[in-house]
Amino acid sequence: MAETDQALPLSDQLAAMNLTDTVEKHAFSDRVLIRSIVGRPDGGAGLAGQRVRAGGWVKTGREQGKGTFAFLELNDGSCPASLQVIVDAGLAVLSKLVATGTCVVVDGILKVPPEGTRQKIELRVEKVVSVGEVDPAKYPIPKTKLTLEFLRDHLHLRARTNTIAAIARIRNALAFATHSFFQEHNFLYVHTPILTTSDCEGAGEMFQVTTLISESEKLEKELIKNPPPSEVDIEAARQVVSERGEAVKQLKAAKASKSEITASVAELNKAKENLSKLEERSKLKPGIPKKDGKIDYTQDFFARQAFLTVSGQLQVETYACAVSNVYTFGPTFRAEHSHTSRHLAEFWMVEPEIAFADLQDDMNCAEAYVKYMCNWLLDRCLDDMLFMAKSYDKGCIDRLRMVASIPFVRISYTEAVELLEEAVRGGKKFENEVKWGIDLASEHERYLTEVKFQKPVIVYNYPKGIKAFYMRLNDDLKTVAAMDVLVPKVGELIGGSQREERYEVIRERILEVGLPLEPYEWYLDLRRYGTVKHCGFGLGFERMILFATGIENIRDVIPFPRYPGRADL
Ligand code: 4AD
Ligand code: MG
Repeated sequence: MAETDQALPLSDQLAAMNLTDTVEKHAFSDRVLIRSIVGRPDGGAGLAGQRVRAGGWVKTGREQGKGTFAFLELNDGSCPASLQVIVDAGLAVLSKLVATGTCVVVDGILKVPPEGTRQKIELRVEKVVSVGEVDPAKYPIPKTKLTLEFLRDHLHLRARTNTIAAIARIRNALAFATHSFFQEHNFLYVHTPILTTSDCEGAGEMFQVTTLISESEKLEKELIKNPPPSEVDIEAARQVVSERGEAVKQLKAAKASKSEITASVAELNKAKENLSKLEERSKLKPGIPKKDGKIDYTQDFFARQAFLTVSGQLQVETYACAVSNVYTFGPTFRAEHSHTSRHLAEFWMVEPEIAFADLQDDMNCAEAYVKYMCNWLLDRCLDDMLFMAKSYDKGCIDRLRMVASIPFVRISYTEAVELLEEAVRGGKKFENEVKWGIDLASEHERYLTEVKFQKPVIVYNYPKGIKAFYMRLNDDLKTVAAMDVLVPKVGELIGGSQREERYEVIRERILEVGLPLEPYEWYLDLRRYGTVKHCGFGLGFERMILFATGIENIRDVIPFPRYPGRADL
C-alpha cells in the first residue's frame, strides 16, 4: 500500500489522507468562507470531493476553451487568497460572470486541479446560485494596478482591492491584540466620552460641537416663510384680550349663569395665550444668539461649549484612580492643519492608565504592548504580512521580528539632544535647529530610531515647557516625567507620562501654562481626595499599522480617512 501511495502525486496523497475532513460551516450564512478552504495548511487539497457553496467577488475571470467554460478567481475577503472556480457554459451566460467585481454565489464540488497548476484545490461549479453583475466599462476599480492615492477617491469600493482588504484584516488583528493584551493584564476597558467639555492637551486643536449654527439657519428659514408678528399685530391681539376681559367682567356683574361665565373665561384665556405666543415670536431674531457681544453658549445644546475629544486620558484617569488598571480605545479628533502622511483629523488611540505605577512601569507597559502586537501579527496574520512584504515593504516582517525580540533603547531627552548635536557636528543636516528645549521634530525622531539606533527608542524626561500640564514635574524642576516611543518608519508611535499627583504642583502648572482652573476642578479633585501615583500613555493606532505594514500614508490605513479638506462618505 505504501508503494502505491508514494506513486501518487503529492496533492492526491494529501487528498487521500484527509478524505474525512469536512469544510468548516459558516455559522450565520449558507456559504462557507473561502478561507476555510484555501487558508488551510494543505491549501484545501484535503477537502477534495466535498460539495460546498461559495460566494465572493471576481478578482479575475476569463472564458476558455472557445467559450465552453470560464475560470474565476473568487475572493470573499476572508483571506488574501482566492478560490479558483470553474463554470461550464451550460450553467450560466459566462460573459456575465467574468468581469472583475462581479459577485457570484455558486454550488460545486471541490477537486484537485491537474498537475502543474498553482492551486491546491478548485471548485467545479454544479449550479450558479446568484450573480451581481458589473458593467466593466463603468466599474471604477478595474483590475489594472491602481495607486493608493487613486483609491482614496473611491473609499466605498476600495476594500475590494487586495491591499485595502489586507490592511483591514491587519487592523482588525491589532485591535483584537490590543484587547487581548490589556485583558490578560487585568485592565478594565472603559468607554470615555467622544463629546467633551475639557481640553486634554491644552493645545487648542479641538473641533467644536454646536447646534447654534444649524438652529439659527433653521430659524432664519422659518422667519422668512412665516414672518414674525408686527407691532400692529401685537396691538390687535392686546385689544382682543382687553375686550374679552371686559366681557367676562360684564357677565359676572350681570350674575350670568356659571356656564356662560366659564365659556367667556375660556375665550379670554385663549386670547391671552395667543398674545403671549405673538410676543414670544416677536422676540425671535435671526443669527447666532449673543450676550454682551459674545456668543451665548448657554443657549447651545449642552448649555456650554462642547468639543470632540482629543484624548480620553483625563476622563480615564478618574477610573484609574478608582479601579486601578484601565484602558480606553476609541476615536480621537484633532483640528490641526497638518497635511503630513502621519496625521489625521480623526484617528484611533489606545490609552492605558495605571494606578500605583511610575514612569518606568509606563515604559515597560508600552514596550510589552508593542512587542505583543508584533508577535500577534507574526502568529496570526502572516499571510497578510507576506502580502505586505511582497507588495510594499520588503523588510516589514523582519522589522516585526526585530521589535518583538530586542529591548528598546531608553535615553533621556538631554541625551537625545546631545546625540543629535553630535550628528550635526558630524555633518548631518536637519531643517530644524537642534538645541536643548526644542520639541523634537519628526526628522530628529526618525534620525534617532532609523539611523542612530535602528530600533525602537524611548525618549524620556522632556523639558516641561514643551509638554502638557498633567505630566509629573521632576526634581530638577526643569523636566517632566514624559516618555515618547519612537519607531522606524513612523517616528512617534506613543506619547505618555507619569501624571502629576501632587495637588499644589498641578494647580501651579495649570496656571503656569495659562489655562483656567475652573474647568479642571474635577480633575484636581482626583488629587484633593485620595491621590495616587499613576501613569499612562496613548498609542496612535493608525501609526502602529503604518509601522507594521510599511504603508507610507496614514490615509490608507483607516477605512474612512478625515483630513483637511476631505471627509468623504
Ligand atoms: O502624544 P499625544 O498627543 O498624547 C496624548 O494625547 C496623551 N493624552 C495620551 C495619554 O497619555 N493618554 O498622542 C498620542 C499618540 C501619538 O504618539 C501619535 O501616535 C498619535 O497619538 N497621534 C496621531 N495619530 C494620527 N493623527 C494625529 N493627528 C495624531 N496626533 C497624535
Ligand atoms: Mg505626543
